[in-house]
Amino acid sequence: MLHAVFTLSLVVLGCAVALAQPASSARPAVPAAGQRVVLITGSTDGLGREVARRLAAQGAHVIVHGRNAERGNAVVAEIAASGQGSARFYQADFASLADVRRLAADVRRDYTRLDVLVNNAGVITRERVVTADGVETQFAVNYLSGYVLTYSLLPLLEKGQAARVVNVSSLAASPLDFSDVMLERGYSSGRAYGQSKLAQVMFTIDLAQELKGKGIVVQALHPATYMDTNMVRSGGGTPRTTVDEGAAAVMNAIATTAAPSGTYFVGQKASSPPHAQATDADARRQLRELSRKLTGLP
Ligand SMILES: NC(=O)c1ccc[n+]([C@@H]2O[C@H](COP(=O)([O-])OP(=O)(O)OC[C@H]3O[C@@H](n4cnc5c(N)ncnc54)[C@H](OP(=O)(O)O)[C@@H]3O)[C@@H](O)[C@H]2O)c1
Repeated sequence: MLHAVFTLSLVVLGCAVALAQPASSARPAVPAAGQRVVLITGSTDGLGREVARRLAAQGAHVIVHGRNAERGNAVVAEIAASGQGSARFYQADFASLADVRRLAADVRRDYTRLDVLVNNAGVITRERVVTADGVETQFAVNYLSGYVLTYSLLPLLEKGQAARVVNVSSLAASPLDFSDVMLERGYSSGRAYGQSKLAQVMFTIDLAQELKGKGIVVQALHPATYMDTNMVRSGGGTPRTTVDEGAAAVMNAIATTAAPSGTYFVGQKASSPPHAQATDADARRQLRELSRKLTGLP
């Protein structure tokens, strides 16, 4: 009798402990041998979330990223429930270079290879805000974080299968003023966004040249114009295209072999860069030097 009561208490206690476990303490998914490993930055919402869903539906292991853990964990749960692919969420604020480096270190700790990196996280800020690193926020989040993350994850990409980096830029890309990239004078949200988006294209062209012969393809694209996402709606814009249209363009940039590394796509069509400054080698050198100075990368 005493034995039965003791056993029952253990069972009840065990259930209580199990119920007390937070959902996030469940064992994180790990990629199976041969499963494609993809990291989509900014995949808690909008375009990135739809690309994460599509890659998981193809069987990939998706590293979901963003600041919002609730939305990130919801994407992971949705992928787990779908029975196709697998996913794991990592939180990092790209307005902080320390956070970007921590994310890269966590990914290097948890994975042995990376097949696809989509630098998609992006923001539009109305006011000029300077990050703790002394960088204008849109330049930091939309461009510099991807620069640091990509270089920090190159050792994993080098081990990837037909590895690819895709930089989600925009037709709104506009030239950088190298005398005032942080826009201390005459800030406008549009100028800051435009500079950050052209910087992504310049980085794409440079990195494609640098990685030539290493088996890593680097592409950039404008996904679609005024998609129905939080970025457009919160800025007061009227959506003109769907997230599906943009996601199809990103999937094309990930998969196509019809264009050489360093190509810029508008939707699914290879195009000339969104501004002539991107093809100016001296401007790209200036951006590279600035990026090295801001990040301390060699
Ligand atoms: N919408 C368009 O029509 C359009 C057109 C051309 C290009 N684009 C580009 O497409 C990309 C995706 O845009 P979207 O329209 O899908 O925007 P969105 O719905 O607002 O999604 C932005 C994503 O970026 C993440 N993010 C924002 N700030 C971040 C930060 N500081 N640190 C880390 N993650 C951050 C967000 O996650 P958390 O909130 O969880 O941090 C979210 O997952 C952007 O690069 C954008 O410039 C969009």
